[in-house]
Amino acid sequence: MMGKTARAADKSADRGAEKGVQRCIDSACGATYGLRERIYVCPRCGGTLEIDCHLVASGGATALRKRWAARAASRDPRDVSGVWRYREMLPFDEPIPFVTLFEGNTPLYHGPRSARYCGLDDLRLKHQGCNPTGSFKDTGMSTAITQAVVVGARTAVCASTGNTSASLAAYAGRAGLQSAVLLPRGQTTAGKLAQSLDYGALVCEIDGNFDDCMRLIQELGDDPSIYVANSINPFRIEGQKTVAFELMEQCLWQVPDHVVVPGGNMGNSTALGKGFQELLELRMIDRLPKLSVIQAEGAAPLARLFETLDLRQTAGGEHLPETMAPVKNPRTLATAIKIGAPVSWKKALRAVLRSGGKIIAVSEQEIADAKAMIGRDGIGCEPGSATTVAGIKKLVAAGHIRADENVIAVLTGHMLKDPDYVSQYHRGTLGLDSGRTDGSVPSRPIDGAFQNSPERVAANKAAILATLERRR
Ligand code: F0G
Repeated sequence: MMGKTARAADKSADRGAEKGVQRCIDSACGATYGLRERIYVCPRCGGTLEIDCHLVASGGATALRKRWAARAASRDPRDVSGVWRYREMLPFDEPIPFVTLFEGNTPLYHGPRSARYCGLDDLRLKHQGCNPTGSFKDTGMSTAITQAVVVGARTAVCASTGNTSASLAAYAGRAGLQSAVLLPRGQTTAGKLAQSLDYGALVCEIDGNFDDCMRLIQELGDDPSIYVANSINPFRIEGQKTVAFELMEQCLWQVPDHVVVPGGNMGNSTALGKGFQELLELRMIDRLPKLSVIQAEGAAPLARLFETLDLRQTAGGEHLPETMAPVKNPRTLATAIKIGAPVSWKKALRAVLRSGGKIIAVSEQEIADAKAMIGRDGIGCEPGSATTVAGIKKLVAAGHIRADENVIAVLTGHMLKDPDYVSQYHRGTLGLDSGRTDGSVPSRPIDGAFQNSPERVAANKAAILATLERRR
């Protein structure tokens, strides 16, 4: 089991003086460990870890809000970062050897076309794809690589569908650490792969899927030279949770009714849930937004489990199921979330249940059309992110979200992460491969319902004006 040999390089750290502990989330275990112990799962029971920060809003919630707001106008690098600006909430002691690319600070847009498409009066889109490497991973990577520096790691590694690896490679590069990334061969977009190469990571293309890469990572984590920066590492979650703080500032501290995120390995949903929960504990907000997670139909193990839950028993996030049946061969064109055995499923499920949200799945056609709609709003995102708008449309239709409620979709990746998908959708050539290589089952075509294919136009003014007229 990962972690046993690599742990406790400096077990002697004075836990009492640290800003928190690492705690096993399994209620039957609940073991705690020092912040400097290099572990990724509970060494006692194998359970998932989370960081329990000793949070204090010194001076009260209003003073903390004001301090954060003032930092937004400061030029101190710690304040310019949309993660380190919230350092009271992070498990690091000063002086922090923080590694930053000035992550966070991402826009919150109104999406009127996407709202209408979903049947809502208004919809806001928090675009985490506007981070330095083009995805939400940067907020968590900033804290994970900082922790790698704190514990004196030599090499940072991760398994990835492409975005975590791009982010890890960039932040390891900033910190001067070696990095290695495990990618499922042929299942990562060209842009994401190119990023990891350019940032100098050793790119290992593995014959298998993401879940196979993740299994390998769990073995590698035992090596003392290796620092695992997947979201199983609770220090990743700490950085990622800051999006909840930034979002609340952008909402002028009016709690939205619903926050909706895509689900893959379930780190992001875990992190958002934790961020809101901490704000609630500090009385900076008076209720939790309902957190819902959307998976792609062909890679939806948690949505399947959610369907079977008796919500009267599990509401509040207690009495979680012990196991989740994985999807053996996950399939979706949204390669970012092509994951059959998400490692953080328990933490994410607990956060969703506590908040009163849902976990559902959407089809490839629904993802593709929602993505085109987000594009029409002038915003754009990668396919995995568009599950949110597709999911919101379904949740509105099912009556879980009312038209007049205050809804936020978290877009996780930039549109240019996967331009091939975009181009194929608009040209009408997008199709989900049947998964069979013998040609016996044809690929399933996906209709470009909001298709916008390029037109060949003669090189003169009249032809261009005529084409415009036709499309008015
Ligand atoms: N959206 C994008 C764009 C992603 O890259 C990912 C995950 C998710 C959503 C899902 O987030 O895993 O926290 O539930 N990408 C990982 C990667 C798996 O390796 O880049 P999650």
